[in-house]
Amino acid sequence: MRELLDRLVAGEMTTPEEWRALLDCSAPEVRQALYEAAYRVKLDTVGPTVYFRGIVELSNMCSKDCYYCGIRRSNTNVERYQMSEEEILRDALWAHEHKYGSIVLQSGERQDAQFVEQIERILRRIKEASGGELGITLSLGEQSEAVYRAWFEAGAHRYLLRIETTNPDLYRALHPESHTFDARVACLDTLRRVGYQVGTGVMIGLPGQTSEDLANDIAFFRDRDIDMIGMGPYVLHSETPLADGLDSIDPETQLELGLKMIAVTRLVLRDVNIAATTALQALNPIGREMGLQAGANIIMPNLTDTPYRKSYQLYEGKPCLDEDSTLCRGCLQKRVAGIGETIGLGEWGDSPHFLKRIHVSRGEER
Ligand code: 5AD
Ligand code: FES
Repeated sequence: MRELLDRLVAGEMTTPEEWRALLDCSAPEVRQALYEAAYRVKLDTVGPTVYFRGIVELSNMCSKDCYYCGIRRSNTNVERYQMSEEEILRDALWAHEHKYGSIVLQSGERQDAQFVEQIERILRRIKEASGGELGITLSLGEQSEAVYRAWFEAGAHRYLLRIETTNPDLYRALHPESHTFDARVACLDTLRRVGYQVGTGVMIGLPGQTSEDLANDIAFFRDRDIDMIGMGPYVLHSETPLADGLDSIDPETQLELGLKMIAVTRLVLRDVNIAATTALQALNPIGREMGLQAGANIIMPNLTDTPYRKSYQLYEGKPCLDEDSTLCRGCLQKRVAGIGETIGLGEWGDSPHFLKRIHVSRGEER
């Protein structure tokens, strides 16, 4: 394993079978060596700076029905909400004033014209009110090329759309028939074509998922030249079909697998942005710091107004439901300083991978 880690740190070609061996390892000293190797590559490629992406969960209304998700359309126990444009703008400007370089607008998936137009208006208003300074990432699901284009032109420049799993059979087992793997992959292609920095990711530790699947997920990220990764452990939500018949999943095992995925992904992809997602913190109070130490470099502090947070639970045990943004910010600053890293304030923090690609396509030197 040491030799394999050395080859990965040196940036040599390695195979999914080799990554799989790392994902399967459970010996604490091997895991520690894996995290340390990933951390070294992170320092060399993206540095010790953590970028904040303040996330606004603007609505939990959703037309999708994924079997694992707490806000799926068929869950009638959820109180549905939609934030007003003023509320969204206020949260975005709070982020700007506090020098968060960029924000993420996320919601359940809707494709109706009213929603599409509202997002477009909000994008323009945020851009205008922040003097063009605030970077905006969207995480609003599958849309047509025309919609992706309209939102890009209105000011969004990054888009997150998780592929969830790259094993088409597992994808089918986790979704109703109308949600197809091919359509999702096509959306990732469209986003790239329109000009977004493209982010994707998977859920880790899904029932029926193997380490071979996870290694293939990393190969998918690499082969599609993905710029940003947002992935996290699968966490049960009891009001979902996938949780039926499952007792509980050991949080320790889920966390460990999540961290190993971050580390191997950092070793293989090197200069991309990787988020330490909130699902890690749902499993362990210091899960996100552990993610940073295993190779992640992005944190997404929650900006959603507290009354809405309890209604945006994709899984159980989501942290910080009672804290407002000010508390989240203070808490995160302490956490980041606690592991000796600094926060990149007032910068977009684009993925170096994206910047290099843009330079290459313009024929400039790397
Ligand atoms: N556990 C972990 N992540 C989940 N998501 C949805 N439900 C769950 C769950 N139960 C993730 C999906 C989706 C993102 C917004 O939230 O990956 O893309
Ligand atoms: Fe698909 Fe929530 S319904 S992720």
